[in-house]
Amino acid sequence: MPEMNRRAVLTVGAALGLAGAVAPSAAWSWSPAGSVAGAGAGVDPQWVWDDEIDRIIATMIQNGQTAQVNAAMDGWVNNWQPVPSGLPPELSGWLDTHMKMPAWADMSKLRRAADFNRRKDTYLFMIYGVGGGIMSTVIPREARSVYHSKGGADMQDRAAKTFSFGYDLSDINAFETTGEFRVTANRTRLVHAAVRHLLPQSPHWQASGHDEQIPISNHDILVTFHSTGTFAHKKLKEWRVPMSRADEEAFLHSWQVALHFLGVKDEYIPASWDAAHAQAAQILTPVLSPTNEGKVLAEVLLGLIAQIDLGLTRGFLNEFVRYQLGNEVGDWLGLKRDYVSAATIRVGWPTYIAFREGLLPVMPANFYLFDQLLRAIAMAFLNRGTSGTTTAITIPDMNRPT
Ligand code: HEM
Repeated sequence: MPEMNRRAVLTVGAALGLAGAVAPSAAWSWSPAGSVAGAGAGVDPQWVWDDEIDRIIATMIQNGQTAQVNAAMDGWVNNWQPVPSGLPPELSGWLDTHMKMPAWADMSKLRRAADFNRRKDTYLFMIYGVGGGIMSTVIPREARSVYHSKGGADMQDRAAKTFSFGYDLSDINAFETTGEFRVTANRTRLVHAAVRHLLPQSPHWQASGHDEQIPISNHDILVTFHSTGTFAHKKLKEWRVPMSRADEEAFLHSWQVALHFLGVKDEYIPASWDAAHAQAAQILTPVLSPTNEGKVLAEVLLGLIAQIDLGLTRGFLNEFVRYQLGNEVGDWLGLKRDYVSAATIRVGWPTYIAFREGLLPVMPANFYLFDQLLRAIAMAFLNRGTSGTTTAITIPDMNRPT
């Protein structure tokens, strides 16, 4: 690998606090002994997709049935609802099987995770909304897939749909029959299957310099998990947000079950946070890098938040990204410096956390700045919060045209 990239891997790894950042290696060496399955063949997940549903969805698109399937799934929201009628029989049979919880899911842990998500929602919102969201733009495979797929043309809508995934996962009833997450995750799995069929037909994606023939492998989904869940765990620890061991384990468990529902094989799903961080150091840190598509996506996402005029400056937002992801990433994305905001965040954010956690008796002077940022993210992306409606996740039948 060129020396410049090797240096970037090490400095970005250090900035994100990912221990043992390593250069990309051709060989997959993460042991399935550290997975929820406890054993496995050890096949590199880069070559593992979602064969059965990929074939079913490709046939559905080729038969021109996408609109009919989306219409049939309209109103299919809650876990208790039966799989809708009017779907091709193979698809409804597949959904019947895949709506079930894995045998290893622990409902008491999942209930604790829901409570944890509620208690820590402010920080998680900031981490997913700013940190993880912008990190996705420096994951080349993800940035190129998102940019060149249908939803890339309307990032506000896409971000709202992705937030609805996070919202449903965090909900107190997420996995219960009264919750929505099992439906949301399965709908997402169908969208990913469609993207695997459609994106290779995009001349723009083909010309983008992508390095895989079929997108969204198990490896890629794990990378995204590490840029969200594992990154959140790392930041919460770093920011000294109080968490019990049981909370940490429960939080991981909700992601383990989510990954299962997204089609990641159990032999790749980390069984512990240690195993997750080790996997992240192997597959996330080394791949971070700027792309033209990622730079545009980051600018669109940050612009959507900044345009909500709550007195926040774009400089403050830029610096909050740099605070979470480091200056190397900030420089890749060309985020203009605002040293006053940088100093305010460096001092103010830890104080904000301490006050919220009841460790400081007096409200800090800059408290409102962080509250406004939270509101701006919510207003930009969480349209459920303002309109009360869910943004339905629908199966695309085309790529981004331009
Ligand atoms: C669609 C979540 C991994 C690329 C979606 C949607 C959700 C989602 C909720 C539906 C939103 C929409 O239709 O716009 C997730 C989660 C992941 C993950 C939770 C892992 C933890 C990935 C990865 C890639 C990817 C690894 C690519 C490398 C896409 C694309 C779409 C999509 C291209 C379709 C956008 C369109 O409508 O055109 N994902 N995703 N996702 N995802 Fe993912």
